[in-house]
Amino acid sequence: MSNFKLGFIGAGFIAKFQARALRGVRDVSLAGVHALKGAEELAATANETGVGPCKVYPDVAELCKHVDAVAIFAPNYARIELMEQIRDAVKAGAGLKGIICEKPLGRTVAEAQRLVDIAGETGLPTAYFENQIHMKGIRAQMQQLLPQQRAMGPLGLARSAEEHSGPHEGWFWDPTRQGGGVLCDMGCHSIACCWFVLTPAGKPVTFLEPVDVSAETALLKWGLPPWRKRLLDRMGVDYGKTPAEDFATGIVSFRNPETGQIVKGQFTNSWMYDKQGLRLMMDGLGPGYAFEFNSLQSSLQIFIGDDAAEAVADAEAALEKSTASRGLLIVEPNEADLYGYVDEIEDAVAAFKQGKDGFLNFAYGLEITKLCQAAYMAAERGVRIDLTDKKIQNELKTYTSLIAQGRGAEVLMK
Ligand SMILES: NC(=O)c1ccc[n+]([C@@H]2O[C@H](COP(=O)([O-])OP(=O)(O)OC[C@H]3O[C@@H](n4cnc5c(N)ncnc54)[C@H](O)[C@@H]3O)[C@@H](O)[C@H]2O)c1
Repeated sequence: MSNFKLGFIGAGFIAKFQARALRGVRDVSLAGVHALKGAEELAATANETGVGPCKVYPDVAELCKHVDAVAIFAPNYARIELMEQIRDAVKAGAGLKGIICEKPLGRTVAEAQRLVDIAGETGLPTAYFENQIHMKGIRAQMQQLLPQQRAMGPLGLARSAEEHSGPHEGWFWDPTRQGGGVLCDMGCHSIACCWFVLTPAGKPVTFLEPVDVSAETALLKWGLPPWRKRLLDRMGVDYGKTPAEDFATGIVSFRNPETGQIVKGQFTNSWMYDKQGLRLMMDGLGPGYAFEFNSLQSSLQIFIGDDAAEAVADAEAALEKSTASRGLLIVEPNEADLYGYVDEIEDAVAAFKQGKDGFLNFAYGLEITKLCQAAYMAAERGVRIDLTDKKIQNELKTYTSLIAQGRGAEVLMK
């Protein structure tokens, strides 16, 4: 039985989730972890749950020597140094077959381009991890509606939203380290999801040409005094000084290069969704047909009354970013599968074994970064950004949003 050995760089939230996903993937093990914090704990869990044998490595170079592919599951601000270390390890003889990087590929277009370039220096296949495109619900609606799409034409409008009550670590909230607020963090998912579901069946993921972007960013909850204080106390980030957006929405227009048809993807993201926990909501409207997906419509609900609430286990074991541990609660028993993590690992490993890029590669991640950054530009300038304009394309190459520069007050508090 062939066993493909994965190595994780980072042992935080997503690395733990991906280790859980690995329980549902055949013939792939978590063989090594390198992280500044949490590596021992993650390796122990991997060994206990049968996804190992897993060892902790003191640096990226050692990790790369002992695995078939590495996955960057570390924070956004560490991408370039880690990619350089992977490249150096490959040049020194590490026999990797592929490199994986979590969303977003870069905090700016320049950073995402640099990741693409360094990956190019290794000559290795890449996989950009955008899990929502791999979600079984998204793939199933496309399969089910294929005859309708063939008969009636593709979707004209897609809407995609990812919302929760706010991230778990301080660096996400700090726009200078994360690359912005919720638009950089979760807008990249929703924009990618819109683009993907709008794409006619059988066409490549970048077939539809992005034409223009309009967007708004706002600070609706976490800039208010009591919430600002809570953020400062809990996460050490001061939104009085360096705010980021906790709400973003916008529309990306795409052109079908064969028919000239214009279709639209509307994204909505927030860190102020104070309901049960993470909600992914997507829908698509075609001529005479439609789909709708809502991750909070689980077939399992539980109820915990006040008298029993003291005995509750970890609420987040029921649902990512859950906000309550009593009342009527939604449970998603297999989130790693629901959100597409299982499928994205399977896809990357199958591709790497054949010497190919994953379904989504770093070059695709760069295109998503361009759309996210164009959305920041649109919101900052209060105009629709024409993506076909050469001047805009050039500006985007060196653009860093005011929010990511730590100057969010100029945009969000005017
Ligand atoms: N696809 C998704 O749904 C999803 C969900 C959460 C996070 N993410 C992405 O995954 C990445 C990590 O997020 P997270 O939530 O796991 O963060 P986290 O803060 O929970 O964990 C980060 C981990 O990286 C380690 N680390 C930090 N700097 C490092 C370095 N220089 N070298 C080695 N290890 C280092 C930390 O010690 C920690 O173990 C981010 O890019 C984030 O956008 C994706």
